[in-house]
Parts: sequence; structure tokens; C-alpha cells
Amino acid sequence: MSLHTAEFDVEGKRAIVTGASQGIGRTVAETLATGGADVAICSRSQDRVDPVAEGINDDPASGDCLAVECNVRDREAVEAFVEATVEELGGVDVLVNNAGGEFVAAFDDISPNGWESIIDLNLTGTFHCTQVAGEAMRGGDDPGGVVINMSSVNGQHAAPNESHYSAAKAAIIRLTETLSVEWASHDIRVNCVAPGLIQTPGVAETLGIDESDMPPREAVDRRIGHTEDIADVVQFLASPAAAFVNGETYTVKGVPRAGNSMSTDLGLQ
Ligand SMILES: NC(=O)c1ccc[n+]([C@@H]2O[C@H](COP(=O)([O-])OP(=O)(O)OC[C@H]3O[C@@H](n4cnc5c(N)ncnc54)[C@H](OP(=O)(O)O)[C@@H]3O)[C@@H](O)[C@H]2O)c1
Repeated sequence: MSLHTAEFDVEGKRAIVTGASQGIGRTVAETLATGGADVAICSRSQDRVDPVAEGINDDPASGDCLAVECNVRDREAVEAFVEATVEELGGVDVLVNNAGGEFVAAFDDISPNGWESIIDLNLTGTFHCTQVAGEAMRGGDDPGGVVINMSSVNGQHAAPNESHYSAAKAAIIRLTETLSVEWASHDIRVNCVAPGLIQTPGVAETLGIDESDMPPREAVDRRIGHTEDIADVVQFLASPAAAFVNGETYTVKGVPRAGNSMSTDLGLQ
């Protein structure tokens, strides 16, 4: 029996990862680069993405990294980011729509502005990046590519006090399915990852925990994950091993508590 491990390879691919100054996005970028992909990363702050790029570029065995300041809510900034990526890396093969976030509030307490900001960041940001990077994927010598969206278990289940975020993340799952059909003829696969609770700087701050509180990745019965748990699934979806996977949402949540949602883990219900 052959395991076809080369099929899991991302070497030579050109990948965009949004929201990569910390947390899941940073580990996704570092993982893809370690696998030999060239990566273009962004966040709202050049000062925060530069050190990530330096770390990747300091490793001669890794792919190259381009760091750009880009707010995914800003269409013109997204266009400039993708243009810079095509110029520097020669094209786009993979887009990881990772930038996202939320604040915790009861539905009645969410202002129109607060609602719009969360929909804009999570859903409209994904729309901007996918439309612009999709055009780049269809151009060039070797058209086609892979889009990987970041939803959440809170897009799959009720998430009290996170209704804006939950609505945006649910919409991302449906967008993934729809686009996987629309773009199949362009040889672009569109898939999604729905993480459970993953320790990142943002989540650690909310929960008041640090690395030393976490069980190792090898532990059984884990209820909080590491950023590597998500990055490994993203790498699989980006690789030829997932060539027949399209329109799917991969839930990555370890062992959930009763209630099945991140809100339960955060003590919000
Ligand atoms: N951690 C979890 O438990 C969990 C669970 C389910 C889903 N997710 C999803 O996974 C993704 C990453 O989560 P995380 O916990 O790693 O987040 P995080 O630690 O808060 O990091 C968010 C990243 O996004 C960047 N960012 C925020 N707003 C941006 C914008 N408008 N434009 C560009 N970049 C922006 C931030 O950089 P700057 O601040 O430098 O701009 C940062 O690099 C999000 O989509 C989140 O909804 C996370």
C-alpha cells in the first residue's frame, strides 16, 4: 500500500494568508512556508506582520514571505495587497481567508455600527479577498487554485452573545458551498474550516489563560486546541491530497463540551 505522502506537499505554491500577525493566521503562514510555499501575509499593521515575515525569511529552508499592511474591510487595500502578491510571488494559488474577530454582547446591546463592523470584518472581508484573489487565480499561465475560508463552530450552532459573529460565520459556510459550484469550472476549489476553541492571543486574553495552562497536543480528551491543529487541516486542504474535496466545511474542535459551541467553552451560556 502506498501512502502518497507527496500529495500533501505545498512546495512551490503561492499562498495569501490574511490576518497573520498572530494566532491561527500566523501559524498557518509559518506552516505553509515550512512546507515550501511562498506566502503573502497581511494585517492592519505593517509593524505587526513584519516580524512574522522576518522569522519566515530567516529560515533558508522555508518559502519566501511578503508582508503587507492591509485591512480586509478596505477593497482598495485588498486590491493593492493582491497586486503586490502577484508582482512579488508571480501569482496566487491559495487564499486563506483567516482575518476575523468579534466582541461579546447580547443581541439587544449590539449597535448598528457594532453589527456592521463584525459582518464587514468576517463576511465582507472574505468577499473582497476572494473576489480579488480569485481573479488573480484565473489569470496567469496556470489558472486554478484553492480558497480556504475560516468559519467557526459558532457558525454551525447557536452562539448566545455572539449573534453577529455567528451570523457572519454561518454565511461563510454557505458562501463556501455556493462558490465551490460557481468556480468549479475555473478549477478553483473552495473549502472551509470551522475551529472550536483554539488558544490564540485574543482567546487567551478573554479566558485569562496562557500556554502553560494548556494540555499538550498529544493529550487525549482536549477541549481547547492549538493553532497547529487548524494549520495542519489548512495545509491538507491546500495540497493536492484534497483535490477531490470541494465545498466542504471541516469542523476541528477536539472534544466539545455539552452544548457543542465555543460559547459554552467561554462560559457565555
Ligand atoms: N481562536 C478561536 O478559538 C477561533 C475559533 C473559531 C474561529 N476562529 C476564527 O479564526 C480566525 C483567526 O482567529 P484567531 O483567534 O487567531 O484571531 P486573533 O488572535 O484575534 O488574530 C486575528 C488576526 O486577524 C488580524 N486582523 C484583525 N482584523 C483585521 C482586518 N480588518 N484586516 C486584516 N487583518 C485583520 C489581526 O491582526 P492585526 O490586529 O495586526 O490587524 C490578527 O493577526 C478568525 O477568523 C476567527 O474568527 C477562531
